[in-house]
Amino acid sequence: MKVSFRVNGNPTTVDVAEDMPLLWILRDVLDLKGAKYGCGIGQCGACTVHVKGVATKSCQLPASRLAGADVVTIEGLTPDGGHALQKAWEEHDVPQCGYCQAGQIMAAAALLARKPKPSDADIDTAMNGNLCRCGTYLRIKAAIKSASGGMAADAPAGRSGTDAAHA
Ligand code: FES
Ligand code: FES
Repeated sequence: MKVSFRVNGNPTTVDVAEDMPLLWILRDVLDLKGAKYGCGIGQCGACTVHVKGVATKSCQLPASRLAGADVVTIEGLTPDGGHALQKAWEEHDVPQCGYCQAGQIMAAAALLARKPKPSDADIDTAMNGNLCRCGTYLRIKAAIKSASGGMAADAPAGRSGTDAAHA
């Protein structure tokens, strides 16, 4: 089927099987490799992108439901990687292996777009669907708080000494 939608502001038409998930359209058809395949069953969040501004697991959205959608991937979050979250991610040295991180940032960005000053509970709820095998959760939370202008001082020191360096 042919389906037309927008990706990072650009009108796009692809001709794919109607059950092809958006994740594969992004990675294999459009060569946008930022969103990652982790589980393919909506359980890990590595494939998270924004669809109409909402954090969405792209492995779960088939081409048949894409018509007219406005999709933003990590590549399109900002023109220059200068989103407050991306800066905070650097400041807090968040990634370890990095595999989950595009999904984490996109989930966090959707949260801050609708709630610029999230509470701890808001962050926990919004990030609940994004797993990190490397256990970077404490640094993720600290970076989100820092990007939102909140204090990161109540973030406990992490499992490695590197967290203490950023406390
Ligand atoms: S790959 Fe989509 S949720 Fe895991
Ligand atoms: S940084 Fe390795 S899975 Fe999250």
